[in-house]
Amino acid sequence: MCGIVGYTGHHEAAPLLLEGLRRLEYRGYDSAGVAVHDGKATRIVRAEGKLSRLEEQLGKTPVTGSCGIGHTRWATHGRPSEHNAHPHRQGKVSVVHNGIIENHLQLRSRLQEQGRRFDSDTDSEIFAHLIEQEVERHGSDLRLAVARALDGVKGTWAICVVHDDHPGEIVAARNNAPLLLGLGGEANAAPGADGENFVASDVAAMLSHTRRVVDLFDGDTALVTRRGISVFDAEGEQVQRSERYIDWSPVAAEKQGYRHFMLKEIHEQPRVISDTLAGRVEMDRADVNLDGLDLSVGSLKRLTILACGTSWHAGLAGKYMIEQLARIPVEVDLASEFRYRDPIVKDGDLVIAISQSGETADTLAALQEARRLGARSLAICNVVGSSIARASEHVIYTHAGPEISVASTKAFTSQLTMLTLLAIYLGKRTGHLDEARIRTLLEGLSALPEHATNVLGQLAAMQVVARRYMNARDFLYLGRGLGYPVALEGALKLKEVSYVHAEGYASGELKHGPIALVDEELPVVGIALAGPGYDKVVSNLEEVRARGGKIIALGTVGDSHIAGLADDVILLPSVNEVLQPILATIPLQLLAYHIAVLKGTDVDQPRNLAKSVTVE
Ligand code: M6R
Repeated sequence: MCGIVGYTGHHEAAPLLLEGLRRLEYRGYDSAGVAVHDGKATRIVRAEGKLSRLEEQLGKTPVTGSCGIGHTRWATHGRPSEHNAHPHRQGKVSVVHNGIIENHLQLRSRLQEQGRRFDSDTDSEIFAHLIEQEVERHGSDLRLAVARALDGVKGTWAICVVHDDHPGEIVAARNNAPLLLGLGGEANAAPGADGENFVASDVAAMLSHTRRVVDLFDGDTALVTRRGISVFDAEGEQVQRSERYIDWSPVAAEKQGYRHFMLKEIHEQPRVISDTLAGRVEMDRADVNLDGLDLSVGSLKRLTILACGTSWHAGLAGKYMIEQLARIPVEVDLASEFRYRDPIVKDGDLVIAISQSGETADTLAALQEARRLGARSLAICNVVGSSIARASEHVIYTHAGPEISVASTKAFTSQLTMLTLLAIYLGKRTGHLDEARIRTLLEGLSALPEHATNVLGQLAAMQVVARRYMNARDFLYLGRGLGYPVALEGALKLKEVSYVHAEGYASGELKHGPIALVDEELPVVGIALAGPGYDKVVSNLEEVRARGGKIIALGTVGDSHIAGLADDVILLPSVNEVLQPILATIPLQLLAYHIAVLKGTDVDQPRNLAKSVTVE
């Protein structure tokens, strides 16, 4: 969703801010702007639309100076337009904001009663007014003025503020929205030693300049200058927040010759599976080491997985795996439903929050609610130090590297890999899996990167299938057992990137409604892999065939029956049933990708979508 970047140092700020904002483009946005302090005052330039529009504006109205803030906006209050774009200015204050002010109506009318006029329809502009009022009282201490201004605000925020009378200063504040400080200089140097520092809502924005970051906590405010940073907690006490080193390489966030990030990330999956397994497979002991995780499995009575979107699909697959391999009951809940339905949490419950970004507002709130009700907690996240990782008692990281494409691909396969490891970890400790079975599963997991590489070899075949069906109005995806979450994920990918309507169904549900849709125009993607559900899926596909529907089937190498039944068939290597979803997802990602390319959509940043949904 919205992105923030700030820079104070000795270089021209505008190009650095633009570069940082470009690295945040993947999060989705509809307008952008920068505010740069030229030594005397702050100049703001904003534009509706893509960053190229902002760049054009900056060409016409250049801003110079070595301290500034920038923002990409994803509209929540007020339509996408230049006047609603950030930064917002009031008097000498300029502010950018990610998040939502919940009590904005009350605050706005109070400010209007005091004679204040608003230039935008946004809730964020309220910050500029409140801060201006406080600066009038605490003029010499901008950070304190910001902290006081936040006092009566309810909601979520990551904000950066600059002020005409405070050249070289940026004040940052965080509450339930990600914000980090980036330290210029070498690892062992004092913070700010070489005279520049950064602020960003996402590490990607500053990765090419620094890998040394300091996470702000909820309630923190910070003063950032080229000489250093000072952080204050919610009580106003100055605190030391620890520094961490980001080991994602800046190159990982580049396209490296691929036409789109989505295609690059699909191709990274063999390596991502290896990275997620690295150091966790203990073949000698027939065990899994989840970074020293100790869950006291004996006392676990029920697991509840909380997630949204693609991560929720991974959670559904996790249910099948954990119930099958560990025999612990698992519920999978959409985080947005869990948090509001007065959930029942009992002794012996463990919630598992799954999130690529670690910043999804609903997942974070559901996790917090579960913990408040007494559940134990584990997070499976990709982004180290993210809010969800920090809000959980235990965390295991998926090591997928930065995922830039809005449509999640490699994060999903890394989540599935991690959930398989977790299921084996639990199965060993509940005594349901013996050593021989664990070794077979671990060998299967270790062979997956090679199988995934072979599946990626079917790129050309998927292009042909995509071309044949690109004009279909709707798609139906059918799967059973572990094929069901794969069907849901395949349908979601197609919807997201190609804007074609697609439904994922448990194939047993076909006759309970969706079969009414089947005619000669409807492509049906059937996940018919070898295993216990195979015959049933095949008979559902026969029912589709009998009504003239077109069948695209995923089968297992050596299956001649499915090849005879389907119009198009993609054969996958034979692997253990619990490992099938990892391979079966890849052709469906490719199908969605190629249809999107043929239709000419914005593959990496599909319309209306944001990479990380930090508002509910
Ligand atoms: O970062 P998270 O895994 O928590 O994100 C959850 C969903 O917003 C995300 O998976 C979304 O559905 C993607 N656009 C799927 O491609």
